[in-house]
Amino acid sequence: MSTTSTLPKKTAKTDSEQSSNAIVTRKKMTVPNFRARKGGEPLVCLTAYTAHVARLIDAEADMILVGDSLGMVIHGMPNTLGVTIEHMIMHGQAVMRGSEKSLVVVDMPFGSYEESPEVAFRNASRIVKETGCTAIKLEGGSEMAKTIHHLSARGIPVMAHIGLMPQQMNTAGGFRAIRDEDVWEDVIADAKAVETAGAFSIVVEGVAEKLAQKITESVDIPTIGIGASVHCDGQILVFEDMIGLFPRVPTFVKRYGNMQEMMVEAISRYSSEVRDRSFPAEQHTYKVKKD
Ligand code: KIV
Repeated sequence: MSTTSTLPKKTAKTDSEQSSNAIVTRKKMTVPNFRARKGGEPLVCLTAYTAHVARLIDAEADMILVGDSLGMVIHGMPNTLGVTIEHMIMHGQAVMRGSEKSLVVVDMPFGSYEESPEVAFRNASRIVKETGCTAIKLEGGSEMAKTIHHLSARGIPVMAHIGLMPQQMNTAGGFRAIRDEDVWEDVIADAKAVETAGAFSIVVEGVAEKLAQKITESVDIPTIGIGASVHCDGQILVFEDMIGLFPRVPTFVKRYGNMQEMMVEAISRYSSEVRDRSFPAEQHTYKVKKD
């Protein structure tokens, strides 16, 4: 990596600068403003795990999620179960350094919140303190209502995550979308339970279109879909999936670029040029300094 930073400069302005600007710039997204977008302009959300990617996404997104998908995407784990609080804090800090305007939400990893509301508060407050993020996300419906209430009543905004819950993969027998109508009422009940408990938004993952629509209509907080159709108040994708950098392409992913192809091509050209000594060329070479 070059020692000269090529990161885009931070450009956020104070509130008064923003209101006096002819060109409208976005203000920092807050939890109440995010929540107020229910039924309005769709919320744009993406995952990020590094400062540079966060800076790029921050220019467009309403919310950046430091998802525990980082276990698979960044650390090459087979699932998210091995992710630790330390992983989430390290990547959360990086994303916070790169973002300014988007709401930053950090996932609570498997094993850090299920035991009791008190354990959840201890770990969630550590994540908030050490990263500076605004909110946390945790997986679970009715069974997590008590914990969601405990956290949100004590100053930690909670984004819930229902439907397909990757941390439940061992009990579910894999990553399975919810299409069977027999369980729809349970999932709708989960959505209502987390809303009543105080969640400010819900990620709805891997559910049939009609179920997504029913969930969105059943709650007054924004639903953020991933594999949950257009009938949600916003959408989220894993950034690496969206830019074509992760080999697995689930049905719900649309690739907006093919970064893998570009990277393979760049690595191959670099390798050839090192081998035939055409890199480094004159312009990449320091000369003796003359006073
Ligand atoms: O971990 C993650 O990236 C997520 C999204 C898939 C919503 O939870």
